[in-house]
Amino acid sequence: MIPRYYVVAERDHEIQNPTSEQKLLLLGERLELGPSSRVLDIASGRGGPALALARAFECSVEGVEIEPAFQTAALERAAARGLSHLVSFRLGDASREELVPESYDAALCLGASFVFGGLADTVDALAPLVRPGGYVAVGEPYWRRLPLPEDYEDRDDPFTTLEGTVLVFETAGLPVVSLIASSEDDWDRYETLHWRAVERWLAGNRGDPDADEIRSRHERWKWNYLRHQRDCLGWAIFVGWKRP
Ligand SMILES: C[S@@+](CC[C@H](N)C(=O)[O-])C[C@H]1O[C@@H](n2cnc3c(N)ncnc32)[C@H](O)[C@@H]1O
Repeated sequence: MIPRYYVVAERDHEIQNPTSEQKLLLLGERLELGPSSRVLDIASGRGGPALALARAFECSVEGVEIEPAFQTAALERAAARGLSHLVSFRLGDASREELVPESYDAALCLGASFVFGGLADTVDALAPLVRPGGYVAVGEPYWRRLPLPEDYEDRDDPFTTLEGTVLVFETAGLPVVSLIASSEDDWDRYETLHWRAVERWLAGNRGDPDADEIRSRHERWKWNYLRHQRDCLGWAIFVGWKRP
């Protein structure tokens, strides 16, 4: 189970990360996807990345997602776009999935390395699943500048610099062959969609038992974003190559 805040705040998100469809298409090119490609999408959310890749490259994408509301949205969106023959979205905890080694051309984990306990463990978990010559793509935050301000309340988050993030892949034996970083526009679109969704939900659900908790999380993260996060936190999709 994930906190209900996310279900409320991300109900309008096409893509639940600070990136864009255009950047996901660039990712698909860098992953060399085509109609014969098999892609694993860990923490597939409402299906945004999987649907964008399947539509553009006609690849098949297997998503695993823990939140029922997101999995349902992904299935509905796939059906509405006529893509159900290419994509599947399984409900479950991705860290407990038993997946066949070397059975994917690419394995993605966009914005969810916490599922495996961090970036290094994510790379270690996904690399065995892709064939030699395949790719592991992880969307991950990184610190844009150090030191972080003393009053930045998320300063203990387990991220490192851009260079340090690449080093995690390379230490695991996967050279990073692509980097697709988020712009300020990507961040603003992603973050401010939360603001609108939460305000609208609160206005229509005043008596809801979770309203206070959702309002307080919303306020805390909104001001945190404006004060420090927009300046200090980067996000990028890092693509590691599994050498043949
Ligand atoms: C930041 S969102 C990213 C969603 C999607 N990758 C995207 O880019 O649109 C993180 C997702 O991880 C999912 N998640 C969290 N823990 C999970 C787990 N143990 N197994 C599978 N999915 C999980 C959340 O429900 C959420 O959909």
